[in-house]
Amino acid sequence: MNAADREARVEEALARLDLDAKASLLSGQDLWTLPALPEIGLASIVMSDGPVGVRGTAFDPSDTSLTLPSPTALAATWDPDLARRAGRALAAEAHRKGVHVLLAPTVNLHRSPLGGRHFECYSEDPLLTARIGAAHVTGVQECGVAATVKHFVANDAETERFTVTNRIGERALRELYLAPFEQIVAEARPWLVMSAYNAVNGPTMTENRELQSGVLRGEWGFDGVVVSDWLAARDTVRAIEGGLDVAMPGPRTVFGRALAAAVRDGRVSEKSVDDAVRNVLRLAARVGLLDGLPPEVPAESRPVPEDGRAVAREIATRSFVLLHNRASVLPLDPAVLPGGIALIGRAAEAPRVLGGGSATVFPERVVSLLDALRDALPEATPLTHEPGTDLTEALAVAGEGFDLWTVLRAERGAVLAQQEVTSGRIRWTDSSLPGGVDYDALATVELTGRFTPRESGSHTFGTRGVGAFTLTVDGHVLFDGEHRSAGADPLEALTGRPIPRGDIELRAGEPVEVVLLATTPKMEYGDLRGVSFALAHAAPARSDDPLIDRAVAAAASADVAVVVVATTEAVESEGFDRETLRLPGRQDDLVARVAAANPRTVVVVNAGSPVEMPWRDDVAAVLLSWFPGQEGGAALADVLLGLDEPGGRLPTTWLARLTDAPVTRVTPEDGVLPYDEGVFIGYRAWQRHPAVPAYPFGHGLGYTTWTYETLETTADSARVRVRNTGDRPGRETVQLYVGPAEADPSRPTHWLAGFATATAAPGEMADIEVPLPLRAFQIWDEETSTWTTVPGDYRIHAAHDATDLRLTTTLTIP
Ligand code: BGC
Repeated sequence: MNAADREARVEEALARLDLDAKASLLSGQDLWTLPALPEIGLASIVMSDGPVGVRGTAFDPSDTSLTLPSPTALAATWDPDLARRAGRALAAEAHRKGVHVLLAPTVNLHRSPLGGRHFECYSEDPLLTARIGAAHVTGVQECGVAATVKHFVANDAETERFTVTNRIGERALRELYLAPFEQIVAEARPWLVMSAYNAVNGPTMTENRELQSGVLRGEWGFDGVVVSDWLAARDTVRAIEGGLDVAMPGPRTVFGRALAAAVRDGRVSEKSVDDAVRNVLRLAARVGLLDGLPPEVPAESRPVPEDGRAVAREIATRSFVLLHNRASVLPLDPAVLPGGIALIGRAAEAPRVLGGGSATVFPERVVSLLDALRDALPEATPLTHEPGTDLTEALAVAGEGFDLWTVLRAERGAVLAQQEVTSGRIRWTDSSLPGGVDYDALATVELTGRFTPRESGSHTFGTRGVGAFTLTVDGHVLFDGEHRSAGADPLEALTGRPIPRGDIELRAGEPVEVVLLATTPKMEYGDLRGVSFALAHAAPARSDDPLIDRAVAAAASADVAVVVVATTEAVESEGFDRETLRLPGRQDDLVARVAAANPRTVVVVNAGSPVEMPWRDDVAAVLLSWFPGQEGGAALADVLLGLDEPGGRLPTTWLARLTDAPVTRVTPEDGVLPYDEGVFIGYRAWQRHPAVPAYPFGHGLGYTTWTYETLETTADSARVRVRNTGDRPGRETVQLYVGPAEADPSRPTHWLAGFATATAAPGEMADIEVPLPLRAFQIWDEETSTWTTVPGDYRIHAAHDATDLRLTTTLTIP
């Protein structure tokens, strides 16, 4: 069936709907779905996060998912083909879970290293982001599942994300922040785009007519659905007129009934509603939910499903970035390790395989490095494991040792319902209160019960959530007050950090009574209503000294020490930015002491985004494993033992110290966050910055060496010849940078224009061809509001990374 016939069927379905039905289709019916409209043969569209797996419609640990490496890892492969295969693997998961729309990929940029969701975005460079993102969307959609490119646009930090206005110059907006969206729309035709929480230069994004209707739909020809980020739609008229199609989540949103009413009283034209409904019906038709239309990609023309575990492992291997490798300590050869390996770090046993927040899925399994090395090493090679430090999260939702239940009361104290709970986390919508309690009748919620400590000492208790609380432990009131949300973030109760409220001495095995009374328990935001707060607890802090001493002793008596250091969910998650880039706990001390005890110390960094590594010059090798997904441990063992080489290159500059970085600010002032650095972020900023990063953008070593032999250019492509000069087969990511021959202070000295991968056996050469898009020679002209080619001489560099430019030639652009 051709496109015109499909559109005709969509029109016909639209024409059969009355105003109420149309308005209802633009509003979530619950957290994840749109309503079915049987009268036109339309089934319910189901959406789910993204981006490392498909969670499904439940937030339920028993509903597990294939868990791929996190987006920074995917970008570190610099391999669009792998990103496409990742997309296919996720599409298979979506089919398995009855999901039609994947809420991914996230293509915001690494503007500041403090960005909390850095791990969930790809890169500081718009071209790398666009190439990986476009391939990912293609992979998902060629299997018949819709992808959602998010968050449009400039949701590059989390602080005050619901209310912040990002003030961005037109050039930076076009050349950096909009660029990935533009290229992905052009190349991969995504079926949805998600509108961000933040405002850009005035209007909040869900109401930003200029960017949504003007740029995205008008200029770029986007024909999919613009869905709000969850709770981002605030105003019926401004959102529909601003180009938003669907408001999520339901059941009460600013669309639905409120939209129908706005049409009836003349505040909104029915045509605006029809335009949005047409987009939703087109989406439904694409994913096969509109009777009478085959899905856009029929089952028989979809690619053969990927083997999920195999893709997860391959991406991980190809994403690991070897930052340095003194005296070729890696790969390890078990044949010459009679003293064995001392494997150190909690994360060697319990790795952090993914970041937190809405990106959370529940992995179907997790392969740790400890398990994988045990399997891979010959019996004769000794392997010891020491945790080294205690990384138990300071304050976490009350769980172990607590017996809790809730009491729901009415205004005058009458008990409406009681229910046991399995943890200190309360999360109900207004229609799912325990015992079917009527939300309007609810006045207070008490979370109460017993806590039996395992250890004697000073225990800390805390709260998460917004509102007035009284917290009493063993008869002592630890807190009686109110917590307001700084940035009016309605999701703070779900994603915010718990706040410590007081300490109390307790004795092991002696139960005490705990009561957390929420006197204003209702969380209301727009039309979303519910109850959400948590009781948090931290056991007495233990000294890490004995753990460190044991790790040092193990390292001293082994041939090699492998230390795995990691961030935690309290560091890399959603809803807050980072405050420091230091590794949590005493991990820096641990590495320093192990390195002093064994010169052959290899550090594996299990983090989704940059961390400071003050010990980096004192250790033999540093390998970044990112958040490596469920198969990460197996991939790490392959790379450490040389079965594979680490294939990753940095998708973002790795700084030495936060204070060195050119752009860090994520905190708005009076609600405004100025992007004053213009087009100078990431390596574009470091080029003109006095400090030097620890490792530049694009950097990464394999296990062989390469020479760059020749570089030839035509007007629209470059040909590079490289030779493998080492003694094992390898893979080189050849990067092409372009910059004006004559320095131009308004532009970076050079920027990424293309890349491609070469593989070659020892001694052999490889020729690769890299297209040079015209856009590489253009700027956004703020006077004419158009892309303008800047004529003149350009230097074209074939490079190993953004600072290691191996060959240069000149190209004249007319
Ligand atoms: C996040 C989105 C996510 C949505 C649904 C929001 O808080 O910003 O990325 O898709 O929640 O979970």
